[in-house]
Amino acid sequence: MTRALYLIACAAGPTEHIDTAVRKAQAAGWDTCLVLTPSAARWWADRLGDLEALTGHPVRSEYRMPWERDALPKADAMLVAPLSCSSLNKWGAGISDTLALGLVSEGVHLGVPVAAMPYFNQAQGAQPAVARSIAALREQRVRVLYGPDGYQPHPPKQGNPAAFPWATALAALSDDQGSPHAKETSPNGVPADGR
Ligand SMILES: Cc1cc2nc3c(=O)[nH]c(=O)nc-3n(C[C@H](O)[C@H](O)[C@H](O)COP(=O)(O)O)c2cc1C
Repeated sequence: MTRALYLIACAAGPTEHIDTAVRKAQAAGWDTCLVLTPSAARWWADRLGDLEALTGHPVRSEYRMPWERDALPKADAMLVAPLSCSSLNKWGAGISDTLALGLVSEGVHLGVPVAAMPYFNQAQGAQPAVARSIAALREQRVRVLYGPDGYQPHPPKQGNPAAFPWATALAALSDDQGSPHAKETSPNGVPADGR
């Protein structure tokens, strides 16, 4: 059975190329569901239909209403990429005021493999909150791909969102039970509304 990946993207540069990431995840064998932060959804507002056609699922960006049904299959793994500086710090502080953060902050404690690759510049990364947030997430077993083995913040105004290393981020999932090729051991999905 095809395993479901929640690809979760924040309003950071590489999200302009999130369709590329979806195709790469699909090529790696994932049934790829896309979740955007509300800010990221604004970037794609005119083309959300294209993303839904590509993934074959609704693109979610808001918490559902209490009476609405879950729109996505249960997640076998979650990848937050790109993770913005703002969402990183909110997540590290336990704030889940977006569906994107609600899914991952709870998902990791329900046994779902969660990886995250940030994308922000060195000035943003110099904030003391960033190191604290990364430590807090790693303590919770979130695989934070930041530093030599992941994303290294770029000098301000010198980012290259088109060169974001999607393949490295996806490969991190293959290292663990989240791989679509891994043997299924337990139904580790979570409700698609982060509850
Ligand atoms: C054009 C544009 C590009 C941005 N690029 C980044 C970025 O690459 N990394 C980042 O951390 N924030 C970036 N920001 C700032 C975030 O979009 C902003 O902090 C936002 O509140 C993040 O919300 P979210 O994490 O819920 O998506 C950018 C903002 C704009 C307007």
